[in-house]
Amino acid sequence: MSHLLHIDSSVRNHRGSTSRRLSARAAAVWRRAHPGGTVTYRDLAREPVPHLCDAGGMARKRPRERHTPAETWSWKLSERLIEEVKAADTVLLGVPLYNFAAPSSVKAWVDHLVAPGLSIDPESRTGLLGGREFIVIASRGGGYGPGTPREGWDHAQPWLAHVLSTLGLAPRFITAELTGAESTPSMANLIPLAAASLATAEREIDQLWTAADDDHGLGDLAGFSDGELTRLHEKVMAEVIARLNSPVRQAAPIGEPFGTASATLPREALPADRTVQLRAGGTPSARVEAGARVEAGVCAGSYAPADRW
Ligand SMILES: Cc1cc2nc3c(=O)[nH]c(=O)nc-3n(C[C@H](O)[C@H](O)[C@H](O)COP(=O)(O)O)c2cc1C
Repeated sequence: MSHLLHIDSSVRNHRGSTSRRLSARAAAVWRRAHPGGTVTYRDLAREPVPHLCDAGGMARKRPRERHTPAETWSWKLSERLIEEVKAADTVLLGVPLYNFAAPSSVKAWVDHLVAPGLSIDPESRTGLLGGREFIVIASRGGGYGPGTPREGWDHAQPWLAHVLSTLGLAPRFITAELTGAESTPSMANLIPLAAASLATAEREIDQLWTAADDDHGLGDLAGFSDGELTRLHEKVMAEVIARLNSPVRQAAPIGEPFGTASATLPREALPADRTVQLRAGGTPSARVEAGARVEAGVCAGSYAPADRW
């Protein structure tokens, strides 16, 4: 059964908060596409997790059997928060921009998620939370697009992308910006741009999941001949390889006719951030990691190459 972890972090309530409204809209789209799916909701503004204190720091250095009671408590909280992510197929995180960064409540949550032995392999340093989609619904009062005076000042998005990548996650961002235009007289001329940004975010959210995305298994693919499935797999893998945009020595021996295509991609075939996502039917259905075996799910009837990665 599919499971969604839905998190908000705005200090405003639903009436005032764009990220809360948009994340609620996304959760509703997800529920419609996943009847019978389950949801865990966490509100980081109303019930913030504690910052990583000295006990949390030491808990990450000392073996468990030598933990003090405070270290045990902090480690167990990290374990619980990581388990919450691991239990989810999809994580939906609402993030407003505060002082050019993510709210400190989001930073505290992420600090708990980064725990060698739980979310990162201590030997290889690879992230252990991959294999699930992570959608960030971002809202920001100003405008940060290319060519604007504050281009590059939004430090929440690059930080989240970097830190989550160390856990094996490749977040997708959907952003509504210029939310301050309506209430700030000096931004009145930006109201149409703000409306356009909101409309784009809403459209992207509404296209996130379709009912067919729920099941990449045999049921979905019934009616497709083996030949048709193989051609679909080839198309999916070709899409992956094209996106990697560099020479691939060996890829895609496509065997199984049951909705998955497999390939091992050489490390140098991957872009610098080491992971890409394959999208089929509007939702990421494969993560590609350097040197890793790739499982590319195919959504019968709704396969569409991604326009966003
Ligand atoms: C404490 C605080 C700090 C903020 N700092 C920024 C900022 O640095 N840049 C910006 O563009 N907007 C800033 N804003 C505006 C918010 O990003 C904007 O209102 C956004 O819509 C908040 O998300 P929400 O609507 O989900 O609450 C700030 C708002 C608050 C409350």
